[in-house]
Amino acid sequence: MEIFFLSLLFHLSLFVLQWVFPVESVSLPNLLALETNPSFHVINQSKRTGHHANGSNNIILNPTFEDGLSNWSAKGCDILLHESMEDGKVLPLNGKFFASATNRTRSWNGIEQEITGRVQPNLAYEVTAAVRIYGGNVSSAGIQATLWVQSPDIHEQYIRIAILQATNKDWGQLQGKFLLNGSPLRVIIFLEGPPPGTDILINNLVVKHAEKVPPSLRPLIKNEPFGVNIVENSNLDDGINGWFPLGNCSLSMEFGSPIELPPMARNSLGFHERLSGQYIRVTSRADTWMGPAQMISGKLKLHLTYQVSAWVRIGPGSTRPQVVNVALSVDGNWVNGGQVEFNDESWHEVGGSFRIDKQPSNVMVYIQGPAAGLDLMVAGLWIFPVDRRARFKLLKKQTDKIRKRDLILKFSSSEAVNVSGAFVKVEQIQNSFPFGSCITRRAIDNEDLVRFLVKNFNWVVFGNELKWSWTEPQQGNFNYNDADELLDFCKNHNLEIRGHCIFWEVEYAIQPWVQGLNNSGLITAVQNRLTDLLTRYKGKFRHYDVDNEMLHGSFYKDRLGKDIQATMFRTSHQLDPSATLFVNDYHIEDGSDVRSSPEEYIRQILDLQQQGAPVGGIGIQGHIDNPVGPIVSSALDKLGTLGLPIWFTELDVSSTNEFVRADDLEVMLREAYAHPSVEGIILWGFWELYMSRENAQLVNAEGKINAAGKRYLALKKEWLSYARGYIDAQGEFRFRGFYGTYNIEINFPTMKINRTFAVDKGESPLVINIGL
Ligand SMILES: *[C@@H]1O[C@H](CO)[C@@H](O)[C@H](O)[C@H]1NC(C)=O
Ligand SMILES: *[C@@H]1O[C@H](CO)[C@@H](O)[C@H](O)[C@H]1NC(C)=O
Ligand SMILES: *[C@@H]1O[C@H](CO)[C@@H](O)[C@H](O)[C@H]1NC(C)=O
Ligand SMILES: *[C@@H]1O[C@H](CO)[C@@H](O)[C@H](O)[C@H]1NC(C)=O
Ligand SMILES: *[C@@H]1O[C@H](CO)[C@@H](O)[C@H](O)[C@H]1NC(C)=O
Ligand SMILES: *[C@@H]1O[C@H](CO)[C@@H](O)[C@H](O)[C@H]1NC(C)=O
Ligand SMILES: *[C@@H]1O[C@H](CO)[C@@H](O)[C@H](O)[C@H]1NC(C)=O
Ligand SMILES: *[C@@H]1O[C@H](CO)[C@@H](O)[C@H](O)[C@H]1NC(C)=O
Ligand SMILES: *[C@@H]1O[C@H](CO)[C@@H](O)[C@H](O)[C@H]1NC(C)=O
Repeated sequence: MEIFFLSLLFHLSLFVLQWVFPVESVSLPNLLALETNPSFHVINQSKRTGHHANGSNNIILNPTFEDGLSNWSAKGCDILLHESMEDGKVLPLNGKFFASATNRTRSWNGIEQEITGRVQPNLAYEVTAAVRIYGGNVSSAGIQATLWVQSPDIHEQYIRIAILQATNKDWGQLQGKFLLNGSPLRVIIFLEGPPPGTDILINNLVVKHAEKVPPSLRPLIKNEPFGVNIVENSNLDDGINGWFPLGNCSLSMEFGSPIELPPMARNSLGFHERLSGQYIRVTSRADTWMGPAQMISGKLKLHLTYQVSAWVRIGPGSTRPQVVNVALSVDGNWVNGGQVEFNDESWHEVGGSFRIDKQPSNVMVYIQGPAAGLDLMVAGLWIFPVDRRARFKLLKKQTDKIRKRDLILKFSSSEAVNVSGAFVKVEQIQNSFPFGSCITRRAIDNEDLVRFLVKNFNWVVFGNELKWSWTEPQQGNFNYNDADELLDFCKNHNLEIRGHCIFWEVEYAIQPWVQGLNNSGLITAVQNRLTDLLTRYKGKFRHYDVDNEMLHGSFYKDRLGKDIQATMFRTSHQLDPSATLFVNDYHIEDGSDVRSSPEEYIRQILDLQQQGAPVGGIGIQGHIDNPVGPIVSSALDKLGTLGLPIWFTELDVSSTNEFVRADDLEVMLREAYAHPSVEGIILWGFWELYMSRENAQLVNAEGKINAAGKRYLALKKEWLSYARGYIDAQGEFRFRGFYGTYNIEINFPTMKINRTFAVDKGESPLVINIGL
């Protein structure tokens, strides 16, 4: 779900752009965040502003068109200079002039400037431009800033650096950030995007070395009220005091609800009254949003992670599954506190989490969702800041149990050397558990990025380069070069690879020519895709995501019938039996999306299996916000009942504050690594500007490892075993260690001997013979 965090309108426009000219990634540049660079520790405000005085280090020549159109060129169209247009209806935003790219006949036509020699590799640049559109048949269109880069090997790349949904009403600010790899021969920046016939107007363009901002500080919260419920009268010991009906419905109190806390809250909610068995019944609900509500303004603390939990039920009369959602209205914005879907009359747990980063003035919590006319019942609602670290002790214990093995090193020596009593130092060199990252063709040109990757990860997945839209953007026009180059790279660096993805079920992700096929054409194209890809790469990819996001889309199923999805699995298996075939979807583990609850996922997998689909693994993408351990592990437990390996396939967490991001990442990594069903964790990138999610990086653009990156490395280190001691009288040395490869140093009075050994997965103690 690479672009899931944008509005639909936004990514639709991106998508349209993508087909028209090559772009390096579906990923987006940071549109807003000018990322921090913690290497800049001491901030001298006067120096900074002095240094970055307006435009002084802008690498664009004649950026405001004071010098006419000098230094600018047209890209496939005409460019003109203006002081105004339409008798003063269109005026410059700043200064005296603006330029237009007109007579555009292709969406990639626009205005450009060569910046070769003025742009340095491996420095982060920020780009801003005042732009709008004019004429044609649209009032709004995407304007994109793109770099065209030619490398010494004459390899050409197009790098998208910023995009703005521009309008014909007013100037808008296009903003982005980029970084170049290697030593490019030529670099040109250009603006493009709107449909033919629509002009691009530009008032100024600034490209300068990204300003260094101070690193984020860890949010300081004194005496965190962990586990303390902020909802008044949750238990209804005091009638329905504190509660009011939202909308034209009625609340009454009844008896007979569970007296146990909902499971996900059991271990994280602090001291609480025993549940009373009383519940609120909501009747006369004239609309889906009607239900019990409470004002909680002033009770929420910034930056804390709140867990939400409630028992809910619906009255009789429902003919289809009903959604129940705990919602927060935070200054009028909807915040999802968790949702659940069911179609029976028993009590269900609803659980979720949220966090507030800006002080709100008005907050209401309400429970909503079922169809109008249905009664809604709520027994207790708890909202409390959760102490996420409190679980770590338990998780460490679980980790120790499932990821380690007892080891007996038996030393033997052919000579008459007495090994007993020799001092040994054992150090794990590598943990064999799969920790991976997404990479792209462009990313592997960045040597610093590659160094970090190879050192800290043993698996990868390609961001876009294997997707059908990438390998066959137009029918019969194949591009396997990028995937081939990435495969070579992985082979050279000993990296295992997930194949992502053969198909993608969500319509917006499907290239127009495929969408335009009739059914017989489509079935042929699907068969050809399977045959081409899986024959070409037989044995190369350890996993395939066969049909990405089947819980969130239904393109192939709608067009070709339900069996098509199982057919994709069956055919893939025939073509490459060595690959494990995965389902892969998002919002599985966070309680926020009823389309992809663990229950829905299980239903889908069983259904596929019933149709003979050889499903070999469960992919949880893991694009998550405010993760809370008990919710994530509850999902893993449920999915674990299927007995299939679970992988986190696209994990990323996003927060502008890198310490909060680090905490979120730690929660996810610890939960995953401690769960017996999880067999691999792949991050969806780690280096700023090579990721699709904003504010998710572990390493900032220019190579500084941030707090989230440090946390990742610390965990990787924690998950390496060390041991020291003396060989006993039996010639043995025992310890318990993580699976992986080890180095051992044996110290004799006169010499040191080093050996390596491997520890495979297994339950029983492993005896390793070490001959000296
Ligand atoms: C900040 O820079 C200014 C100008 O260079 C200098 O006069 C001032 O002493 C500096 N302040 C600090 C706190 O370093
Ligand atoms: C820099 O430019 C901005 C907007 O163009 C303007 O508001 C600001 O006053 C300028 N600052 C200086 C120091 O010129
Ligand atoms: C930019 O334009 C000016 C005026 O036409 C010209 O003198 C200068 O050489 C140009 N610079 C570059 C790098 O093309
Ligand atoms: C746009 O194209 C038309 C037809 O080729 C041409 O007459 C006109 O001069 C062009 N406009 C500009 C601004 O170059
Ligand atoms: C303008 O757009 C409308 C609706 O998309 C379309 O019907 C019409 O033909 C378009 N007109 C021109 C001149 O392209
Ligand atoms: C409230 O609902 C009742 C029953 O559906 C209806 O008769 C009444 O007009 C509604 N009142 C308002 C203010 O909407
Ligand atoms: C080997 O060395 C250990 C410790 O130094 C000693 O206790 C033991 O007696 C020695 N064994 C032999 C066979 O020399
Ligand atoms: C489907 O499309 C193909 C290619 O355009 C065409 O040859 C074929 O007749 C179409 N089939 C049907 C049933 O329309
Ligand atoms: C020998 O093993 C120790 C402990 O793992 C390690 O620190 C050391 O670097 C190794 N020496 C060589 C020469 O490999």
